[in-house]
Amino acid sequence: MVGVTGGIAAYKTVQVVRLLVKAGHDVHVIPTEDALRFVGLPTWEAISRHPVTTSVHDDVARVRHVALGQAADLVIVAPATANTLAKMTAGLADDLLGTTLLATTAPVVVAPAMHTEMWRHPATEHNMATLRSRGVIVVGPEEGELTGGDSGPGRMSEPEAIVEAALAAVSAEGSDLGGLRVVVSAGGTREPIDPVRYIGNRSSGRQGVAVALAAAERGADVVLVAAHVDDGVLDAASALPRVRVVRAGTAAELGAAVEAQAATADVIVMAAAVADYRVAEVSPLKRSKESAPVGGVTLDLIENDDILAGLVRGRRGGQTIVGFAAETPGDGETLLDRGRRKAARKGADLLAVNEVGWSKGFESADNAVTIIDAGGEVVAARRGSKQDVAAALWDAVLAVRESQAKTK
Ligand code: CTP
Repeated sequence: MVGVTGGIAAYKTVQVVRLLVKAGHDVHVIPTEDALRFVGLPTWEAISRHPVTTSVHDDVARVRHVALGQAADLVIVAPATANTLAKMTAGLADDLLGTTLLATTAPVVVAPAMHTEMWRHPATEHNMATLRSRGVIVVGPEEGELTGGDSGPGRMSEPEAIVEAALAAVSAEGSDLGGLRVVVSAGGTREPIDPVRYIGNRSSGRQGVAVALAAAERGADVVLVAAHVDDGVLDAASALPRVRVVRAGTAAELGAAVEAQAATADVIVMAAAVADYRVAEVSPLKRSKESAPVGGVTLDLIENDDILAGLVRGRRGGQTIVGFAAETPGDGETLLDRGRRKAARKGADLLAVNEVGWSKGFESADNAVTIIDAGGEVVAARRGSKQDVAAALWDAVLAVRESQAKTK
C-alpha cells in the first residue's frame, strides 16, 4: 500500500509505485485530497492497475476504510508531509489514508519531504521521535535543492532508495532464508550467428527475477545471473542491496557465471531459458546474401553443455539445486509426464514445471507451476502471479532442505 500526501515530490512517488509493480507486487495507492492537486487520480490508477479513492465513503460494503490497511504487507507514505506526519503521530483518521494507517499492523515506511525549517521545527522533531519509537521506518529526507530554490535537508529520497528500504523492512519481518547464499539464473540466452544476428527465445526473465527478489526479501544473499531480459525487469533487483546482478549473454557465459558462484551457494535456481545449441561457426562479419547459396542456407549447430546437469554432478554437500521446465505438452503426453522425465534426466532436487505456448507463460505477469521432487512426486502446485509462484518455490526449497537435513 502506498500513501501519497500533498507535496510536490508526489511526482517521484509515481516511480516508487512503478518499481514495486514491476517487481511483481500488488500495489494499492491511497492519495490524500491534497496529493491529487500534484498528481491526478488517473495516473495512480493506471500505474497501480487498481481503482483509487481518497474517501472513506467509497466501497463501504467492503469496509474499504480498514480493509486496505488490514490486507497490506507493507505501507509506504511518500511523500510524507509535515502535516501527515503530525496526523500519524496523533492517530487522526479523517480520510482513507488515516483510517488505513490506523488499521494496519504491517511495517510502515515514511519518506518525509518538506522545507528545512519545517523539518527542523520542534513539533516535527517531536513527531518523528514518536513515530520512530513506534517502529515507523524513516527514509530520508535528503539534503539538496528544494522547491523555490532553497536548499537543505527536506528533499524526498529517490524512489529506488525508498523501495529498497521498504522491501528490506518486509524481509526483516519474515527472514526464513536468512543466511542462505542463493544463485538464480534468469532470462533467455542469445547465441550469436554473426555480429548483428542471434538465436534467442521468448523468455522475459520475469519469473526468474521474481524468484531472486523473493529470496532477497526473505533474507537470502542473492546473485542474479541475468541473460537477456525484457526492459525494466531488472530495475527492482538492481535497487536491492542483497541482490548482485551479473550479466551473461550466451549459454556458455551463463554457465561460467553460475559455476563461478556454485562453490559457495546453498541454493541454485536455474530459471534461465538456456539455448540447447549454439552456432558452430560464428561469422566475424555480417553474413551477406551475396555470398550465400541461392534459395536458403543451413546453419550448423553444436550442442551446449547442460548447465543444470553439470551443477547436479558437481553438487557439494547441503546444496539444493532447482530447475525449471517449460513444456508444451502434446502427443498424448501430459505436462507432468514430460516434467517427470526431465526430472529423472536432470537429477535436480526440485523441478518447477510450467506449460508454455504461443500465448502462454512468457510475457504475462501470471504463471502456473507444478513443483516436483527428484523422484517425480508433486510437492506443490501454484497458479498466480510470478511472485506467488516464487513464494511457493522457496517454501518447497525450505521443505526439501529440512527433510534432507533430517535424513542425514
Ligand atoms: N538448462 C541448462 N542448460 C542447458 C539447457 C537447460 O541448465 N543447456 C536448464 C534450464 O535452466 C532449466 C532446465 O535445464 O532449469 C530445463 O530446461 P529446458 O530447456 O526445459 O530443458 P532441456 O534440457 O533443454 O530439455 P528439452 O529441450 O528436451 O525440453
